[in-house]
Order: sequence, then C-alpha cells, then structure tokens
Amino acid sequence: MKIAVVGTGYVGLVTGVSLSEIGHQVWCIDIDTEKIEMLKKGKSPIYEPGLSELMQKNIAQNRLTFTTKHSEGFQGADVIYIAVGTPENEDGSANLTYVEDVALKIVELVTQDTIVVIKSTVPVGTNNRIQDLINQHKERDLRIEIVSNPEFLKEGTAIYDSFHGDRIVIGASSKYAFKILEEINKPFGIPIFQTDIRSAEMIKYAANAFLATKISFINEIANICERVEADVEEVARGIGMDQRIGNKFLKAGIGYGGSCFPKDTKALLKIAGVVDYDFELLKGVIMVNKNQQELLLQKLNNRFDTLKDKRIAILGLAFKPNTDDMREAASIVITEELVNQGANVVVYDPVAMENAKKVLVPSIKYASSVEEALQEAEVALILTEWDEIKKIDIESFRKMKTPIVFDGRNCFDLESLQKSGIEYHSIGRPVVKPEIANALF
Ligand code: UDX
Repeated sequence: MKIAVVGTGYVGLVTGVSLSEIGHQVWCIDIDTEKIEMLKKGKSPIYEPGLSELMQKNIAQNRLTFTTKHSEGFQGADVIYIAVGTPENEDGSANLTYVEDVALKIVELVTQDTIVVIKSTVPVGTNNRIQDLINQHKERDLRIEIVSNPEFLKEGTAIYDSFHGDRIVIGASSKYAFKILEEINKPFGIPIFQTDIRSAEMIKYAANAFLATKISFINEIANICERVEADVEEVARGIGMDQRIGNKFLKAGIGYGGSCFPKDTKALLKIAGVVDYDFELLKGVIMVNKNQQELLLQKLNNRFDTLKDKRIAILGLAFKPNTDDMREAASIVITEELVNQGANVVVYDPVAMENAKKVLVPSIKYASSVEEALQEAEVALILTEWDEIKKIDIESFRKMKTPIVFDGRNCFDLESLQKSGIEYHSIGRPVVKPEIANALF
C-alpha cells in the first residue's frame, strides 16, 4: 500500500519507518525543510535506539521517502496518517491547529478515495469534528474517512514497541476502514482491538492517566514508607506479585515527565471539566507528581542549613533513560531552584546535554563525565537512572569532597552502600548513614 505520514516528530517518524519495514511504500511529509534534508540522508533528528539503522535500510530499499511537498506524498496514497503535534494550550487543553491544517490540505490535494488515520492524541470527539471539517470543505466526490489509531510507544524503546506492542487500537465507523487498517497492520503480528472512534480516543487518555496514577500512587506509598521505616522497593515487589495489580510501573522516584503523561493527564482533566465532571482522582495524581518532582529539593533543605555556594553534582537530566528528551524533566525545576538558592551546579547526562542546554538555567556547568561532575562535589543528585549511572563505582562517590548522595531513582542497593562511608538518601527507603558519620562530617 502507499501510505503518507504527515509530521516527522517522534510519533510520525517511528510510525513511518515501522510501516516501511513491514513492506509498505511510505512517504513521510514535514514542512521543516532542514529536517527533511537530514532525514533524506538517513540521519534521525531524535535519539532513539535502532531508528537510524531501520531508516537507512528502508531508504536504500526504496520503501521510505521524505518530502516537504504534501502533493507528492498524497498522490495515490491509500492511507494518510496524521501525526503532527497537539501541544498544550495555556489552559491545559490540546491545540488542534496543526491537525486541522493537515485535514484541510488533504481535502485540497487528494484526488482518490483515502483513509485518514489520526495518530496524534486528540480530545474525545475531535476525530468526528475533523471528519465534519473534511466533509464541509470537500469539493470532489471522494470517500475520505477518518480512523482513530492512538499510539502507545515509549521513548527509548519505540522501535521495539512498534513490533512487540500489546495491542493496536483502531477506532472506525465502517467495515471498509477496519479492513484496510487490519491489512496494513497485520504484518506487525500484534493483537488488533477494534472499537468506535470515541472510545479509541478515550483509550489513549485513560491508558496514560492510569499509568500516571500508578506512578503517583507508588510515590505516595514511598513517602509513607520513609515515615514508617519501610522500603518501597520491597512493598512494590510484594504488591506487584498480585496479578490484579501487576509489577510494572511501580517504580517510586521523582515523578513522571516526558511528552505524554503531563500533557495528557492535564488534557483529560480538561475534557472531564468540559462535560462537567470533576475528576478528583486525576487532580491528585497531577498534584502528587508536582510535589514529587520537588522532593529532592525538600530533602536537601532539610539536610542542610543552606545550599549557598555548595557544589552540587547532578547526574542524569533526561526525563527518563535512553532518550535525549528533556520535556517536563524533573531536572528543569530542580536545577532552577538550586541556582536560585545560590548553589554551584554541575550537571552530566550521557545523551541529553545538548537538549538540556536549550532549557536549563544558563548559569550551570556541564561536565563531560560522571567523574568530572563529582570532582570536588559536596552533594550528588541522581535524577535519571541511566545504566551508566547505575553502574557508577561506589569509589567515585567516595572521592567527592563530601560523599553525600540524593538518589531520585533508587539506582543503588541499600546493602551495597551499608559500609561504604557514603551518606545515601533515596525515595521511600531508609537513609544510609556512614557508621562514623560525625567523624566524617
Ligand atoms: C508514555 C507511555 O508509556 C506511552 O504508552 C505513551 O504513548 C507515551 O507516554 P514515555 O513518555 O515514553 O511513554 O515514557 P514511560 O516509559 O512511560 O515513562 C514516563 C515517565 O514515567 C518517565 O518520567 C519515567 O521516569 C516515569 N516512571 C515510569 C516512573 O516514575 N515510574 C515507573 O514505574 C514508570
């Protein structure tokens, strides 16, 4: 089949590349000329393991083409995917301008019957509204039908997820559309769940809100664990063995970030508000996450009289490991507040430093290795659980000016730190204090 994908952001690019890998003829379209030039050369603008390799392979086999011209991509396309951004408006609602613009372009340019698949996360009812928009502006006698196909990819494992996801959700209103979408997706070998359009839209929000709820829940349990001297890692293991609860997404830490959970939870709250429903639970989830992102600051302020002129090393900046994405990362709020309090901040991340420079306060220093960041540091903060950080030799912490570590992602075993001489604070677990604490500090 000939497929056009509009938008070469995270979702669009991974979707286009994966569809070409299973044998479709894919045209990826974006208005950003520079990006398209880069993509044509097989270079990925985002850090995503396995993506460039797959791109290069499919470009070489003539299944994957990049263009800035909608007309070129749309010509003869059986299906057009819309995967443009739906950024957050100031009031928390989703901005649909880009999706609407593409819909109008489709009406203007398409000369054959086409299925339009909306991948972008949009409020419930939007797909139907886009269908109306298309019907209103359509001048040719064509069948242009909207399908909702939300994506559940995780950054860092997006390529793997494309071929091993738990389900593909298709929301459509005709047998014809279901059939086409089934044909396209069959080679992925992933169960397909067919439903109505509105439910498909809601599934995406409900899935992300539920996962965010799991995280905020375990984070609150962690906060109680600290006060009752229990260990949240043990508690998560113990509750996770109950299959009704499940053992995933129970990792306590400094909260969720990224491009989806913060935006989609707020958008769902907004959607609920529009229909006069007060989604109390979700409000709590969002509030808990905000507090959790600031938890290490609170812990630092409780531990020290002042942070002024203290040299603080920050290890890990991305919102999670295996990505260079800094969107809604806890490191943004934390570095800003530390600088406000007069601390001398040195940061290190294996991959996200270039992106970090665009969003973090300017007055921080960037180190080129963990060791460099820890040199002369009086405190180390761990914000992302990169493998490189989890593998840090305890000896490196011992070489700090004062070996005090605040770990926001529970990267280390409490046992391994017991006699290390390091003061170690983590989330939802007892503080490890050096046996001769007073003599050291
Ligand atoms: C998420 C959803 O998983 C995906 O289905 C959706 O399409 C987009 O949003 P992503 O944002 O890439 O994907 O990251 P994910 O791995 O889900 O993690 C999100 C955030 O939650 C990260 O900040 C992570 O550190 C945090 N998290 C995750 C926890 O704090 N604890 C956990 O147990 C799991």
